[in-house]
Amino acid sequence: MKTMLFSPGPVLVEEEVRQSLLHYDICHRSPEFEELFVAIQGKILKLFNADDSYYSVIVSGSGTSANETCLSSVFAEGDEALLINNGVFGDRLLEILTKYNVPTTNYQPGWANLPNMDEVEEILKNNPKITYVCMVFHETSTGMINPVNAVGKLAKKYGKRFFVDCVSAAAGQHIDVVDNNIDLCTSVGGKCLGCYPGSAYICGKEELMASTPAAQGKNVYLNLGKHYEIAKSSHQTPNTPNVNLFWPLNAALDWTLEKETLAGRVERYQKCAKILRDGMKEMGLTFLLEEKDMSNTVTSVFLPEGSKPVEQFVDELAAAGYTVYPGKGKYLAMNMFQVANMGAICPEDCYKFLEVLKAHI
Ligand SMILES: Cc1ncc(COP(=O)(O)O)c(C=O)c1O
Repeated sequence: MKTMLFSPGPVLVEEEVRQSLLHYDICHRSPEFEELFVAIQGKILKLFNADDSYYSVIVSGSGTSANETCLSSVFAEGDEALLINNGVFGDRLLEILTKYNVPTTNYQPGWANLPNMDEVEEILKNNPKITYVCMVFHETSTGMINPVNAVGKLAKKYGKRFFVDCVSAAAGQHIDVVDNNIDLCTSVGGKCLGCYPGSAYICGKEELMASTPAAQGKNVYLNLGKHYEIAKSSHQTPNTPNVNLFWPLNAALDWTLEKETLAGRVERYQKCAKILRDGMKEMGLTFLLEEKDMSNTVTSVFLPEGSKPVEQFVDELAAAGYTVYPGKGKYLAMNMFQVANMGAICPEDCYKFLEVLKAHI
């Protein structure tokens, strides 16, 4: 049964993106693939408002694969990381850093709390071995937008590199890697860009990628230096990529950058989020975050006091044709759920969703 995905990925895709899957088969070691690869690389840079000092590589995998490609590759022996961690996906970055034995200062302001910049600065001032500040742009588990610009300024002030997980932010928030001093960031097709899961990509300073030797990477497949080397020398990927997903990735990028425009897409997301939030407030529902801290695409909402368990509510909505997510971790016990407006969702869909929601809370 077709369900309306009001969940933060996978998302509903535009018909043009779906049709592009039917492209004839090609080989990934062919000029036709190389041409497509280069075209996509250029469009990825535009998503991040990158200038020509940046370069992009494409990794077949989920968001975690792009994060792991970066974090398993960029640390030399003796380097350390500062992780600003305020949610599930901050924890996921910690898991990766820990797995690859990167000594990490795990700064935790608490879930759904913004970092205190004085505390961040204190850590950077006192830890010369830290080479990277790492954080999540849009902490999807709460829907919070982190203060990327302020952290980027501090990273620059202390001569640190800045890695940002933009998995749920690219094409949903305004991102400017130059202005935000971001050295390396990641995202995927299957969230705000409105494509399918399975395509991840990395945008970073080219001098950084060029000076990250493949031998330094601790992973065979998820190896930034290797991806850069092969992309640069042959416009290909080191291993067999998900060739068939390159067409929809290209179509989703064209849709976003040309048809809708990046600014237009962000504006549509803001409009949809406002419709949803205003409607839910009218129903007396309360939110986890203040609206000023929320992203354009995810709203974390509590069911009213004494209502049914959130798992039952989520099942009922699914039966009515709408997918929303139950809250993660401690928020599940607090009867929280998450509504996302990512992908091919328009204001009319949001009004319809509110009607269904009203009948089930
Ligand atoms: C901010 C963020 N980072 C990382 C991930 C992990 O992505 P994936 O599940 O595609 O590996 C997600 C997934 O939702 C996310 O929202």
